[in-house]
Amino acid sequence: MTKNRLDEKELKKLTKGTMWKKTEILDKVDSTNTYLKKTKNITGGMAVFARSQTGGRGRRGKNWVSDTEGNIYLSVSFLINFPIENAPLAGFAAAVAVAVAIREFFGINCGIKWPNDIVAENKKLCGILCELTRSESGEYYAICGIGINIADAPDLTEIPTVYIEKLYEKEYNINRFAALLLKKLEFEYSNINDVISRYKKECITVGREVKIIAGSEFTAVAEDVEKDGCLIVRKNGEKIKINSGEVSVRGIYNYC
Ligand code: BTN
Repeated sequence: MTKNRLDEKELKKLTKGTMWKKTEILDKVDSTNTYLKKTKNITGGMAVFARSQTGGRGRRGKNWVSDTEGNIYLSVSFLINFPIENAPLAGFAAAVAVAVAIREFFGINCGIKWPNDIVAENKKLCGILCELTRSESGEYYAICGIGINIADAPDLTEIPTVYIEKLYEKEYNINRFAALLLKKLEFEYSNINDVISRYKKECITVGREVKIIAGSEFTAVAEDVEKDGCLIVRKNGEKIKINSGEVSVRGIYNYC
């Protein structure tokens, strides 16, 4: 395959006229999420890609191995211009955008494992870490960090992983994919009021037996996703509402 690199000029051209007024491509950074968090004068519409990260961060305090040039390590900023208690919706919006972009661009059949892992063939293809930050002027921003396994996937002992080039063997232009992803992110953010209805169509967790790993562990059946993004599960007839915060959900027989 010919060298397929993110290119700032090409990406800017492809995203002209969108909300992404500040796009940057860094060669190497500790974490694109941390980089955006530390940015003075943060605004909405910032998108920072890195070719590699030295301190990539995942959910629940985990690391995100980020040494494969060719993978996507991206963080975007969304101004929270809606009630702050709905800020977690930004993470659900990001998940829908990634799933739709991957399916449209590569034709890969993927879905969302609640809350926001993107999964194909029952293996993890992408992880999303959303954090909240506040600017000096007092506005809140959601920083959505998106790690997509494109050229390779880290071997994680606890979960199976997969990468795009394993499932899609044709040539492609990474800048075109990145631009499509940014456009889908803009769409989901601009239509955040009904993001959960689109999320539910993408979510593969509902209807499955799952193990909830919080402080303790229990198994239950996932029944629904509520308007606020919480997962509704049923355990021995009892309905329980699960908040995405620090919880991990696993399938009983496999990762999903
Ligand atoms: C997960 O644990 O599944 C979330 C992984 C999120 C990784 C991305 S890569 C870009 C951004 N920068 C980080 O440090 N983390 C996120």
